[in-house]
Amino acid sequence: MGKCIRQTVVGVVGLAAVVSVAGVQAAPPDWSKVPAKSVTLFYPGQSTYEWLVGPEHKKNAYKKVVQGEACLSCHEGEEADIGKKTATGQRLEPNKLDGKQPVIDLKVQAAYDNKNLYWRFQWKTKNNYPGSAYPFYRFDGKEWKKYGAPRLDKEVQEGKQPAVYEDRLTIVLDDGKVERFKAHGCWLTCHDGMRDTAKVASEDAVKANPLLGQALKKTDVRKYLPSTRTDANASWDKTKSPEEIAKLKAAGQFVDLMQWRAHRSNPVGMADDGYILEYRNFDEGKNMFSSNLDKEKKQPKYMFDAAKVGAKAIGADKMRDLKGPQALVPGQSAVPFDPAAGWKEGDLLPQYYVNRADAKDSAADNSNTKGTWSNGTWTVVWSRPLDTGHPEDDKILKAGGAYTVGFAVHDDNITTRGHHVSFPVTLGLGVKADIEAVKTK
Ligand code: HEC
Repeated sequence: MGKCIRQTVVGVVGLAAVVSVAGVQAAPPDWSKVPAKSVTLFYPGQSTYEWLVGPEHKKNAYKKVVQGEACLSCHEGEEADIGKKTATGQRLEPNKLDGKQPVIDLKVQAAYDNKNLYWRFQWKTKNNYPGSAYPFYRFDGKEWKKYGAPRLDKEVQEGKQPAVYEDRLTIVLDDGKVERFKAHGCWLTCHDGMRDTAKVASEDAVKANPLLGQALKKTDVRKYLPSTRTDANASWDKTKSPEEIAKLKAAGQFVDLMQWRAHRSNPVGMADDGYILEYRNFDEGKNMFSSNLDKEKKQPKYMFDAAKVGAKAIGADKMRDLKGPQALVPGQSAVPFDPAAGWKEGDLLPQYYVNRADAKDSAADNSNTKGTWSNGTWTVVWSRPLDTGHPEDDKILKAGGAYTVGFAVHDDNITTRGHHVSFPVTLGLGVKADIEAVKTK
């Protein structure tokens, strides 16, 4: 049993199984022979694109940004300075968070062969536990109610909910087709109107928007590219038509976005796969994670398998207990929910369940990603096919190719902009770049 539990914690999936599922021969490199690059991720606060192109971005910097000048041409080596100002609430942060680190040092290694790109990442977590928990449903004696939330949420700041959210590692990648991504990286995608920005769009306003509300049925604004908007400021509500956006997508003018998630993908050895265009979309197909709420019956769909993991639910005091189960994986740690199982007040079940077999099509391309946490450090090893076979929502990588990437780490029970991010970094597969992937056989 002990072994089985540890597997759900660190997400160890037999490599042989992964290889046969992916149909691609995975031969990860000897990482001790691949140089590590240190990338300084810093806390960005509310530095949205609108802020960067507005007069508060001082000393006429904003005019240069409008003209396309790269962030790094002025801010090289300033990551720690900027991070200190934002993390301490001196600049761009109305909701200062206790103990927020200004920077995270992300160690990045990259290699490739004829089939795959291989990444290895390492970073230290602020807490002495990995963020492998996700908010729960809690039984209050009668009903299952939401329990736990990300640290920037009002209810957590007011002490009404505990801070609970999964750790994440995000890669955004472009092949040169997105104008200005090389100069401005992630900031191109981050806008006023999004959740936790200075000017969050109301649900009603989003629902009334012809693209986001009416065509896409969204209720919030998420990352988007300026090319999908009609005005010079790339305002969230000045949206182009679905037809115009389809043309941009067909021309490859989107940014690839993939996230390794400590709770919702790692337990099954995967990362998710998405892209940014008019919204932060998931790729075609189905993710490895699904809602654990049966909306009709107002109860969870899965519970822990007591026979395998020792208990049918987690108690709040066991939330960070890595000897206990963390994620619901049907067939491994989870079985269908039984309303008559004798539920007690305080029983917790995660809000999502995770299943490798559910992941389908382009959304399932990152099928060989494994993170382990030990002594305060995450190590995430990730392989991705150079050609996923899905050019409609992925960037297809090639030997000899040069790319621009941005990295983000969500640490310490946080989501949305509460992450640490990098300025744009170049990645070369056999060409000169900040990160030069090593060719292996
Ligand atoms: C032409 C130079 C220039 C460019 C290009 C530029 N900045 Fe700035 N940025 C500045 C200056 C000057 C400040 C104000 C620094 C101060 O007040 O000490 C600043 C301030 C900031 C701040 C607030 C923190 C601070 O130190 O005040 C952030 C965040 C920031 N810039 C991010 C960016 C990003 C992201 C980009 C790229 C999209 C960018 N900048 C491009 C010059 C530039």
